[in-house]
Amino acid sequence: MDKNAIIGLDIGSSKVKLVALIKDEKLPESNLQVVHKSSGISVGVRKGRIEDPEKIFDVVSSLFDELSQTDGIEARKVFVNINGASLESIVSKANVVVSKADQVIGQEDVDRALTSAKTISLPLNKEVLGVYNNEFIIDGAYVVKNPIGLKGTRLEVRSLLITAFSPALNNLRDVMNRLDVDYEIVPTPLASSYAVLKPEQKELGVCLVDIGAGTIGIVVFYEGDLVFLKTYPFGSSNITKDIAVKLQLDFDTAEYIKTEIASCLIGQSSNKKEKIKLEDGEEISFSRKDLYHALQARVDQILKTILNDLNSLELPDRLAGGVVFTGGGSNLNKFIEYSRKFLKLPVKKANLKEQFQIPIENEQEYSCALGLALMGHSEESAKHENFSLNVKPGKFLSKIKNIIKPFLP
Ligand SMILES: Nc1ncnc2c1ncn2[C@@H]1O[C@H](COP(=O)(O)OP(=O)(O)OP(=O)(O)O)[C@@H](O)[C@H]1O
Ligand SMILES: [Mg+2]
Repeated sequence: MDKNAIIGLDIGSSKVKLVALIKDEKLPESNLQVVHKSSGISVGVRKGRIEDPEKIFDVVSSLFDELSQTDGIEARKVFVNINGASLESIVSKANVVVSKADQVIGQEDVDRALTSAKTISLPLNKEVLGVYNNEFIIDGAYVVKNPIGLKGTRLEVRSLLITAFSPALNNLRDVMNRLDVDYEIVPTPLASSYAVLKPEQKELGVCLVDIGAGTIGIVVFYEGDLVFLKTYPFGSSNITKDIAVKLQLDFDTAEYIKTEIASCLIGQSSNKKEKIKLEDGEEISFSRKDLYHALQARVDQILKTILNDLNSLELPDRLAGGVVFTGGGSNLNKFIEYSRKFLKLPVKKANLKEQFQIPIENEQEYSCALGLALMGHSEESAKHENFSLNVKPGKFLSKIKNIIKPFLP
């Protein structure tokens, strides 16, 4: 077996997750095999952002040690996520005059238009992490995906830029450079979407929401294109904190209650009491109603955020592919059922197993790491470049040439 694997590394707010994937031609279907999967508790990461590179480096490097020492696997390339860095997408427009006398649009015109679209003034400490070209407009009339070879005098481009908070990116680069591996950086919800969404869903129009411990990440695809990406600095651990405060319990007990007892549907009018025994033998009781009220406000905040973002997009029609949830937070009991009622859209939880026949436990928590590793293995790997893969400083511009290639599988 080839022990040279592509690694998906998800540095999350609560856990660092690592997936090693190899391609084995003897395997049926996708030929992909998860040969190693591990996790470690995150330290120095707050709301998805690396605040202490030293501390998280120790966690990450011990996972890499385990990878090589226990399973003898070498990392050929690492795909790592950036998260919580106020990631967001901005639509940018630019115009260029077609340069050739015969008015046939060439690669050079496309490059100039894209470079110009990328050169927008950003707030301090923000940088462009990736550029998605959505469409070219020739002489204000013809909208096309690829204008090369067509005739026109004016070429307009409408691109989707993904921006990130530079200090957070630099902290991530610091960790990765010290690991001394070849790496590429991908925004979290985009990576998760790669593991979770099928091309048909993207064509129909679909929203993927990754609910992590400290963040939620939202991406929207419409007619096959990425049209929106944003992350927010709250997530499932806020639900735990709300339960801890409301029921006056410590965080760990509240976490247990959230994962084992809480539900988004039952309890609103229930006077039923729940009893649990703590580790030290103390017995505590609380009403289902109080528990319901503790988590409901936060769940509604998450769902309202999604609705606001979807409304802000002003898409011509509603998302027929609905909303797909992933991330550990999507495991909250009856969350999917509740969301369906709230959002009035088709809603489901991601199903990684069905998608790739890759058996993986805690699949929701691993969707980002798996998506990262799958990106590395994708036959479309050359096409990653249209979300820029902010590899190491300086590589972006050399990649911009290829960004009109559709990235989607
Ligand atoms: N059964 C469950 N019910 C409710 N919440 C759950 C359940 N299982 C896991 N979670 C929550 O999922 C969160 C961890 O998910 P995940 O691993 O996706 O987050 P992360 O990647 O570390 O964080 P982030 O993406 O925000 O940086 C924790 O807050 C955990 O409590
Ligand atoms: Mg995560």
